[in-house]
This record gives sequence, structure tokens and C-alpha cells, in this order.
Amino acid sequence: MFYVMKRISQKLQALLVIGILFFASSCEQDYFYEVPPPKVAQQSTTLIATHVTTAPNTFSSSFWKTADYLKVSATNMNVQQLFGDGLLNMTGTYSGITSFNNGTAPDLTLKAAYDSSNLYILAEWTDDDVDASHSTWLWNGPVDPRKADPTAGWTSQRNCDKIAFAFDIANSTSPAGNFSNVGCAASCHNNGTKYTMHPQSGKTDIWNWTVARSNPMGYSEDYVADADSFYTDAGTPVFSRNSAGATDRSGPAYEWDGTSQNITLPNGGSAILDPAYYIKNKTPFTGSIERGDSLYHSVAPPGDCTYCHGEKGEGGSAAGINYLSQNKKSRAALISGMDNVPDMVTYWAPLSAADKNDLVAYLRALSGVPGYTLNTPTGSSADVVTLSNITPINLVNSYLPSTNKHTKYQILIIRKLKTNNSDDIQFDLSASKQYKFGVALMDNDGVNHIGSAIETLTFK
Ligand code: HEC
Repeated sequence: MFYVMKRISQKLQALLVIGILFFASSCEQDYFYEVPPPKVAQQSTTLIATHVTTAPNTFSSSFWKTADYLKVSATNMNVQQLFGDGLLNMTGTYSGITSFNNGTAPDLTLKAAYDSSNLYILAEWTDDDVDASHSTWLWNGPVDPRKADPTAGWTSQRNCDKIAFAFDIANSTSPAGNFSNVGCAASCHNNGTKYTMHPQSGKTDIWNWTVARSNPMGYSEDYVADADSFYTDAGTPVFSRNSAGATDRSGPAYEWDGTSQNITLPNGGSAILDPAYYIKNKTPFTGSIERGDSLYHSVAPPGDCTYCHGEKGEGGSAAGINYLSQNKKSRAALISGMDNVPDMVTYWAPLSAADKNDLVAYLRALSGVPGYTLNTPTGSSADVVTLSNITPINLVNSYLPSTNKHTKYQILIIRKLKTNNSDDIQFDLSASKQYKFGVALMDNDGVNHIGSAIETLTFK
């Protein structure tokens, strides 16, 4: 009996030990192997750059799906400013918030990350159309209802959409205060009466992403503003003014040369630039614009193009010929196209080759010649690599019927933490993990903007 009891108790003991072990191991399991809740995107009060080991260098990188975001509450930063003589119809954000995208809130959000070499900033905001021109050359163009500028001859018209970031390189100060207290008000809006895009002392870094001048090449424009002025960083800037002279009434120096504008983007991708908006492969703009104008408006053939195409090419009995898409045709293609319209023979065929060339100069000016030519940037001007959801070949613009309505801009800035260039901010994380910055949005503008003068970028 005793023996039997002992057997049972041994068995119980064994069961107990197994039970305890099981219990302990299940505790251990709970403790070590519980699946953490999935990360969800949370709104944050500063722009938090999270450390990553896999570069989030595309819009589809999984990091962005759950990254915390800063929602920027945009306010008027600079309003009711106009450009100088000859620059017209370029102030789509004139009244600030109420003008920007016709008063629809931009809902700008920013996300950030960094790895051992780069800072990544993803910006997204609402703007229902893509304005992709900048200081386009027009001959006898429209008046600007906000300006008294005469419009006879060449003027520079139209503007593009932009986002700009400002960081303090060193002690930027204006009468408004210093950068650490007032953000980019310390550097961009000196004394508040007249717009001066530089601080009174110190140095500011400005990254300006523009649809017309930097986006097609895959960059943001990189500037430095100091006590003297606001100027592009060292090296070749991504854009050059396409001007035959020193003023904004000088007319274009170049036009597209007719060859396919294939480019390699800084991230290794490729693109073809649309000559309706962009000139990279260029040839001098030729022909007498005055002579082309007078032939177009002559009262009898040859010439007399108004008879069928309207006073400014807007169309009449025949199609309009003042659209941007006319820029997609080379000079030779335009001329041979006109050679082949039977209805035009009386008006076109008797003209000399020089007359035809002069008329093409006038046709180009009816559509508008892009105000800038593009370059592959070099040196410190090539630091701010920027991807966007606007491809250089697939644009929707308010000047063209929109086939693919755009509602939201997405841009992804990739910049070295430390460029070691004196005209750039250095993100030296051993020295500081917090950096003040300002951010500005422009809809069809470059001088008026909305946004936030002071935000904080925090490296975690
Ligand atoms: C009698 C009417 C008439 C006159 C005058 C006229 N055109 Fe045209 N033009 C046409 C027609 C018709 C077309 C074909 C497109 C269309 O159906 O509207 C055309 C087409 C064009 C095109 C587009 C060609 C292409 O490749 O698609 C251009 C550019 C053009 N005209 C320029 C001119 C110029 C410059 C003059 C003055 C020298 C002129 N036209 C005078 C009727 C006219």
C-alpha cells in the first residue's frame, strides 16, 4: 500500500514538475515572443527623422506607409507682392491662403528618415493643377490685371508651382529676429515692407523645388542667402535664364533643337523631357519677330494668317495655333506641316524661306517660348536630389485640356547629411539632433507664398 502511495506521489511530483516547467515556459513564451502591435502613422509636433537601414528612396518604400508625419498648418507668409518690370501674370498666390489652389487647404504633410549618409524628406500637398511654365516669352502677350506694365513686344509670363525649405547655415538674422526664434523670417523677409530674399547677417540654405526649372532634371534648386544677396550654390545650377538680353523684355535666346531630350535622372532612372515645357537640347532662336508679326497680320496674302487663325492664333475658321503643344514641333516640322495644308497655299507658298522662318518665330511667340533652359547640375548645385510624382514627360497643365487630373503633389528630397560645402547646412548629429526650418508653398507663383516660417526637424 505504502509502496503504491509512493508510486502515485512520485507520479504526482513528476506531473507537478512538468506542469511547472510548462507554465514557466509558456510565461517565457509570452514574454519573449509576443508580436508587437503593428506601427501606425501618428501625427507628431516636430518633423521626426527616424533612423533606417534600408533607404526609403522611392514613394513606395514601406517606411513611408507607417512613418509619423508633421501636418503643417499653413498661414500667409508673403502676400500681395508683384514681380519687376516685364514679368506678368506670375502671382497665383497673390492673396495667400485664399488664392492658393482657389482657397482649398493644401494639407501639407512632411515625413522624414535618415541613414548613415542621407536625409530623406517626403512632402505631400494638395494642388489641383500642375503649373509648369516659368517666365515664358510671349510677344504682345496679355495684360496682367494687377500691373500697369505695357505688354507690347516681348514680356515674360506664367509661373509654376513650388515648395521651398529654408535651413539656417549660420546665425541668419533680420529685424524680425534670428532663425532659432522666427525661422525663415530671419532670412527671407527682411524688415517686412519690401521683399528681400536674404538675411541682414548670417547665412541661410534654401532648397526650392520648382515644376519648371528643377523637377524635370530630378533636383531642387539649391541657394544660399546671405547679407549680400540670394544666389545659387557653387557649380552649375540646374537652370539658366533663356534670355537674349539683360531684361525680362529681351526675348528668348534659344528654342528646342528638335532632338529627343533623353536624360538620366540622379537616381539612375531615365526620362524624356517634353519640349512643350522644357528646353535642354537647344539651338539659337532665329527669325525677325517683328517681320513675322507683320506678315501674320498683313491685310492680303501672302501672309494674312489672321483671316483663318484669328488675331492671336486663337483660331477662327481654322484651328487655333497658339497652344503649348505647338512647341512639340521642331522648326522644320512646323514649316513642312504648313507646306502641306492645301487651304493655305495662297497665303503660305509664295513666302520666301526667310519670311517663313520669321513667321515661325512669331508662331513660337504665340505659344510661348520656355523662359529657362535646363542643365545637368554640378558641384554644390547638385546636392538636393528630388523625386516627384510629376514625370517630365506626362504633364497636366491648366493651359492644356487635362486628361489625367492631378490632385496631389508628392516630392521626395534626398540630401547628404553632410555635404561639407560652405553654402549648405550640415546635419552633424554629433553636434545637434534638432534643426529649425521653414517651409513655403507656391501655386503659380514665386514671390507670394503660404506655409510655416518655423518648424523643427528632430533626428531620432
Ligand atoms: C484659308 C484659311 C487659312 C489661312 C489664311 C491660313 N491657314 Fe493655317 N491652316 C488652315 C487649315 C485648314 C489648317 C489645318 C488645320 C485645321 O483643320 O484647322 C491650317 C493649319 C495650320 C498650322 C498647323 C500645321 C500642322 O502641321 O498641323 C499652322 C502652324 C498654320 N496653319 C499656320 C498658318 C500661318 C502662319 C498662316 C499665314 C501664312 C496660315 N496658317 C494661314 C487654314 C488657313
